[in-house]
Amino acid sequence: MTVHFIGAGPGAADLITLRGRDLIAACPVCLYAGSLVPQALLSHCPPGARIVNTAPLSLDQIIAEIATAHAAGQDVARLHSGDLSVWSAMGEQLRRLRALNIPINVVPGVPSFAAAAAALQTELTLPGVAQSVVLTRTSGRASPMPEGEALTAFAATGATLAIHLSIHALDRVVTDLTPHYGADCPVAVVWRATWPDQRVIRSTLAAIQTEAQGIDRTALILVGPALAAEDFDDSRLYAGDYDRRYRPTGDNPRFPE
Ligand SMILES: C[S@@+](CC[C@H](N)C(=O)[O-])C[C@H]1O[C@@H](n2cnc3c(N)ncnc32)[C@H](O)[C@@H]1O
Repeated sequence: MTVHFIGAGPGAADLITLRGRDLIAACPVCLYAGSLVPQALLSHCPPGARIVNTAPLSLDQIIAEIATAHAAGQDVARLHSGDLSVWSAMGEQLRRLRALNIPINVVPGVPSFAAAAAALQTELTLPGVAQSVVLTRTSGRASPMPEGEALTAFAATGATLAIHLSIHALDRVVTDLTPHYGADCPVAVVWRATWPDQRVIRSTLAAIQTEAQGIDRTALILVGPALAAEDFDDSRLYAGDYDRRYRPTGDNPRFPE
């Protein structure tokens, strides 16, 4: 018996890995985080599967469901939105399951920041503009930010920021970022990326609050000059004169064929 933690992707039902889909189909028990996981994924569950929405359950109740499946020798598919490595609450479940000696497997998923970048048709790391992406959030009722992880600290780097769980605090985000990025810095808000009702708002730090009025809950705020840059360097990797293992060039290549 194994508990398969499966990244369910950002919303579109076909943005799950083949491995994740096949495991859902093979597990007689499926626990899913109903607030964000698309219901359509549940159609992969086998007939007669026990399917439980964990949104209204406590951690103790979730672990009790898994322990019952474990006692019955039944594999569990545990679905969380996006990828499991960020803001999935997987860590606390893993800790409990390890203590109970219940076997675990983790299958990655498409994270919402990647889905949002795809909706924008943008590379977040452009040569000479930004070479880092910070996945972060602002403090919430349940989760204060650790000291040192203030938005202003990340803003000082000038990196592309992908700010999760924070659309309700857009005014604070703008106030914190404007001194570092400037009022005309490009911002995008992507609401429900990849869902059928996806919305994309491109703006600037100065105007985003007006343009994103009424957007709430499942939205990502992306900030940084890479979002609108056209004037950036080509990467050296594909430059005709760049000598590399897969395309040796010049009289004295580093990696001769
Ligand atoms: C609890 S976190 C889950 C993050 C998820 N594990 C991931 O890999 O993206 C929820 C937050 O992720 C972002 N998010 C999740 N799905 C999204 C989507 N389809 N479009 C835009 N933002 C999304 C929002 O900022 C939302 O408040």
